[in-house]
Amino acid sequence: MHLTLQQLRLFESVARLRNFTRAAEELFLTQPAVSIQIKRLEDSVGLPLFEQIGKRIYLTEAGQAMYQAVQDVLGRLETMKDEVLNLQGVIGGPLRISVVTTAKYFMPHLLGAFLQAYPRVEPHLSVTNREKVIQRLTENKDDMVIMGHIPDDMNAETHPFLENTLVVVASPQHPLARSKRIPLQRIAEERLLVRESGSGTRQAVERLFVKQQLEINPYMELGSSEAIKQGVMAGLGISVLSLYSLRLELAGHHVSILDVEGFPLRYHWHAVHLKGKKLSLAARTFLEFILKESSHLLENTTANVKQYSTDAAAKPARGKPRR
Ligand code: PGA
Repeated sequence: MHLTLQQLRLFESVARLRNFTRAAEELFLTQPAVSIQIKRLEDSVGLPLFEQIGKRIYLTEAGQAMYQAVQDVLGRLETMKDEVLNLQGVIGGPLRISVVTTAKYFMPHLLGAFLQAYPRVEPHLSVTNREKVIQRLTENKDDMVIMGHIPDDMNAETHPFLENTLVVVASPQHPLARSKRIPLQRIAEERLLVRESGSGTRQAVERLFVKQQLEINPYMELGSSEAIKQGVMAGLGISVLSLYSLRLELAGHHVSILDVEGFPLRYHWHAVHLKGKKLSLAARTFLEFILKESSHLLENTTANVKQYSTDAAAKPARGKPRR
C-alpha cells in the first residue's frame, strides 16, 4: 500500500467533516484536488473509502477502519512533535481548546496574552455550545475545555479559575431598572428571554427557580448571549447573563443590572480535561498561566463592568469555589 502523509491528513479531514468541499476549504486546496487524492488513496487500498447516498457521504467499512488508523497515526505524530519540543525545552506546538459560547468574551484575551509570551504555541480555539463541548471532552478531542457548570457524572479533572457572575439585565427604560431588592417571584412574572436548553447559564437560572419553587415561563428562547442582549436592549424582555458578556453594553449604558433577591449568582469558570490525561507541555503551561494570571489580565477588560454593576455584583468572591 502506497500512502502519503498528505493523503492521510486529507482523508482525516474529509472523514471528520463528511464533506469534500469543506475539507478542501480547511486545507486550502481545491475540491478536485481533494477528490483526486482520495481516489488515489482508494486505489492504493483497493476498496472505496466513502460512499455517497443522496447528498451525504458516509464512510464504508474500509473507510471506518482507515479513519481509526489515521487518527492513531496523526495523534502519535502530534505526541512525537510535542515530545521533541519538550526535549528542546521549547514551549510550542498545538494547543487545542474548546470553550462554551459565553467564554468567548474572555478566552481570546487570555489566549492572546499567552501567545505573546509563548509565540511557538499553535492555538486551535473552538467556540461552540455546551453540548458539543461536553461531547468533545468525552471524546478527548482537546487539550482542555472551558466551561462553567460541569456535569456531575463527568470523569474529569476540573480547575476553577475565574468568577462567573450571573446578573439579571433589562433595558435601562424598564420599570424595574430603579427598583431595589426585587423578589424573584416578580422576575418570574416578567417576559423572560432564555438561552437554549442545555446552556450552562440557563441551567443555573433553572436551578435557582426550582429552589425557590418558582416556574420559568420563557417568553422567548434565543440561542446566544448576543441575541439575548439585542432582545433586552430592544425592550423585548429581561434575562440573566454572565457579567463578562455585558462589558460593552454596560459601558454604553445600553442595559441595566436589576437588583434581584438571590442575585448575582456566583460560579466559576473551569478548565477541564479527562482524569488521567497526560497534558502536553504547552497545555500544562497554558493551564498554569490561566490559573495564575487570568484575574489580573482581565482586570482592565472588566474594570467598567465592575463600575456599572451593582455593589453586590462587584464584590469579590468569598469562600470556596462552587460548581
Ligand atoms: P453557556 O455557558 O451558558 O454559554 O452554556 C455557561 C456554562 O458552561 O456554565
